[in-house]
Amino acid sequence: MENELMSIKNNAVSLILDARSEKELEELKLQFLGKNGTLTMALKELTKIPIEKRPEVGKLANEVKQIIEEAIENSSANFKTKKIEKIKKIDVTEPGIRPPLGHLHPVTQAIEEIISIFERIGFTRVRYPEIEWDFYAFEALNFPENHPARDDWETFFIEQQPDPKKGPVLLTPHTSSGQIREMEKGKLPIKMLNIAKTYRRQSDVSHTPMFHQFETLVIDKAENISITHLKGVLDYFVKSYFGPDRVSRIRPYHFQFTEPSFETDVSCGVCDGKGCKLCKEGWLELGGAGMVHPNVITNCGLNPEKYAGFASGWGVERVLTMKEGIEIDDIRLLYSNKLEFLEQF
Ligand code: DAH
Repeated sequence: MENELMSIKNNAVSLILDARSEKELEELKLQFLGKNGTLTMALKELTKIPIEKRPEVGKLANEVKQIIEEAIENSSANFKTKKIEKIKKIDVTEPGIRPPLGHLHPVTQAIEEIISIFERIGFTRVRYPEIEWDFYAFEALNFPENHPARDDWETFFIEQQPDPKKGPVLLTPHTSSGQIREMEKGKLPIKMLNIAKTYRRQSDVSHTPMFHQFETLVIDKAENISITHLKGVLDYFVKSYFGPDRVSRIRPYHFQFTEPSFETDVSCGVCDGKGCKLCKEGWLELGGAGMVHPNVITNCGLNPEKYAGFASGWGVERVLTMKEGIEIDDIRLLYSNKLEFLEQF
């Protein structure tokens, strides 16, 4: 009987040490300690041995049971820590989780493209104050005192004591104020590209109270400047920004600070100039331009007999939507921070 018990113990322990999973351990537990297990059956035989030997054999049988139980417990604990180690291990070769990637706002993208187009023909990007005096935004640009743009229905005025010389403080309604700032510096010739935020008291499906304009100004000796330069710059921009097949035109218009003044148009990319729902007559309006008014040149301390120039002021949001050929139902969407909209650009 003692021999049998010892061989059960040895057999059990070696099988337990060889076990490869918790499931195998469970099976071994049943095989040895279960209701019909090897050890249980052997213990039933105890009744058959002489009574005086029973306590000794009984004690041995208990020890064997304990050894088997402990061996199973140890192995099981071992499996558990291995499992945890397995979870903790990091596979550095595993492909990562891609973080969501953003991109520049479509208006910023348009600004960067406009800058690079004008830089190629020698324009320098500048920026001037958005909080400005009336002098720069209107007075020096030859606006008469009663011009409607100077009314607080159209322009945001800031509650501040007007400057005796430069007048009230306001949010600049156009980038043309940069023309005066640039000429005032007195460095000639000028090839300026002023891109800035501009502000007007309007908010509806086709206007936001804050929008962006880009203003060009060229000033040089009068004999070097003619309208053809203006038309050349316009054409170059239209072809670079909208594509080589697009053409431009100028039509007479009126602005206070240019003489002559023009509206500039670009041929419609949807119908190729034939006329469609988007453009109506084959042309899309780009914005204003003209030859700098002699009064403006004088107001900046230069002699209009000697110096001449041309300028243009166009809207960034406008060229952006024209380029994409998109008709945004509500232009305010551009500034709504809606990702579903922005992700399309
Ligand atoms: N400042 C004008 C506006 O906001 C646009 C403009 C017209 C700018 C003619 C110019 C120009 O430089 O020559 O409506």
